[in-house]
Amino acid sequence: MSRVAHPAGPRHADVLPAGYPPPRPADLNALDPALWPRTARRSGGALVLGGIDVRELARQFGTPLFACDEADFRGRCREFHEAFGADAGVSYAAKAFCCRAVLRWVSEEGLGVDICTGGELEVALRAGVAPELITLHGSNKLPAELERALAAGVGHVVVDSFEEIGRLDRLTAGPGPAGPGPAGTGPAGTGPAGTRPAGTGPAGTGPAGTGPAGAGPGRNARQPRILVRVTTGVEAAAHEFVATAHDDQKFGFSLASGAADKAVRRVLASPGLDFAGLHSHIGSQIYDTAGFEVAAHRVIELAVRIRDEHGIGIEELNLGGGFGIAYTAADDPADIRLIASGLRDILDAECRAAGLARPRLSVEPGRAIAGPGTVTLYQVGTVKDVDGLRTYVSVDGGMSDNIRTALYDADYTCVLASRESAAPPMLSRIVGRHCESGDIVVRDAYLPADTAAGDLIAVAATGAYCRSMASNYNHVPRPVPGGRGRGGGPTLTAQATNVSLAMPAAAKGSRRLAFPGPAEGLARTGHP
Ligand SMILES: Cc1ncc(COP(=O)(O)O)c(C=O)c1O
Repeated sequence: MSRVAHPAGPRHADVLPAGYPPPRPADLNALDPALWPRTARRSGGALVLGGIDVRELARQFGTPLFACDEADFRGRCREFHEAFGADAGVSYAAKAFCCRAVLRWVSEEGLGVDICTGGELEVALRAGVAPELITLHGSNKLPAELERALAAGVGHVVVDSFEEIGRLDRLTAGPGPAGPGPAGTGPAGTGPAGTRPAGTGPAGTGPAGTGPAGAGPGRNARQPRILVRVTTGVEAAAHEFVATAHDDQKFGFSLASGAADKAVRRVLASPGLDFAGLHSHIGSQIYDTAGFEVAAHRVIELAVRIRDEHGIGIEELNLGGGFGIAYTAADDPADIRLIASGLRDILDAECRAAGLARPRLSVEPGRAIAGPGTVTLYQVGTVKDVDGLRTYVSVDGGMSDNIRTALYDADYTCVLASRESAAPPMLSRIVGRHCESGDIVVRDAYLPADTAAGDLIAVAATGAYCRSMASNYNHVPRPVPGGRGRGGGPTLTAQATNVSLAMPAAAKGSRRLAFPGPAEGLARTGHP
């Protein structure tokens, strides 16, 4: 049977997935290196992350707990950096996992940062990310967010609607925005508006590292470069809700309808806007370059029309994020070095065929950097055998710390983490404690048949879009970055342990909802 979505959300218990039940693992205690953080191993039976026994982590911080392996996270930043090379831009998509600690790691590893709200912008600025290495996304950027981004001096804005282009036009007309300032400073400044270069020159000289291109010759350093986000009609994703380049969705300007051409015209007609190039993001969990190839071909066709109509070349082409990771043993994403060389080859070939100068390539991975290095630790509360079907193992978190299973039908891998067991495999469903029968963390997993209340379960690859999509459902406190909630508590140190970030979902402080709530909330927690 298939997993069919109905209006109230994906169905669950009564619909068995294709391939059910899954094959039994050969060894229930094994940690597949393709799925677990790079420092994960077992010692004395228990899972150890970054040299720390997870039972110790649970004692110190409580559960549920996101434990992030800093070495893994930084290693993946470096691999992207090296794979794409110094002439390309790599920005970390902060939406995957956004707090000051990780954005600091990203900056230290030489990557830029993509943000899509004022809250993420504040976290990035407070993390010390250089404003010119920040790219502002968003399908409905609030006017105040645009003002703040201009005032802070963000390097790029990816425009997504005609209203937004109009707002930016008005904001950049006349006196320029104030330079980078502390959080909360007003937008309007007295500097002159930057002059838009002809757009035919080479990409601006980027700052050190692989961040986005910096100020081009002759432009005001405070004026963001504009990328026009286009929807190419390519749909590359595992689930409808994470596909972002087909026409029937909210992002970008359609190539097929001519809206993208019109948007470029509109940007070029605004004296205050500095057109840099085009942006395309085709989806998530992409394992190869086939979708990128079609998207690049279509975007280059637009670049040719821009050249023919306006006499300019595009300086930058951002092909977005979406690089897939392994959540289960069945997932087999290509090595990022192969993807990077594939994308470079595709761009070279497309530009050569079109007779265009090659624009600077940039990408913005989120999941592929943040996802694999974090595990969620839960404590088992109840074990309920539903006769003849499966065993429900209830843990002390659930859809408030991982909504992806309910939202996207996501699959995960888990193990008994507090000990090893020689008991036979028991087909289990790991469920949370929320009042929702769709509150499922891992749909089908084999755990040892002696799994019992008090055991710790670890779920692999939860670093991306789990904490960042967390909620207060049932008034369960939202996970707070850092080992110190407002109630106080110990902090793991990066140097000593390599597991530098632990986020107790049960931390006392929960964020305020008023803008810019996340930044305020984060600042108050004093996380690392
Ligand atoms: C425009 C854009 N760029 C980058 C990303 C990051 O995607 P991923 O985390 O799959 O790499 C997203 C994700 O939604 C996105 O919308």
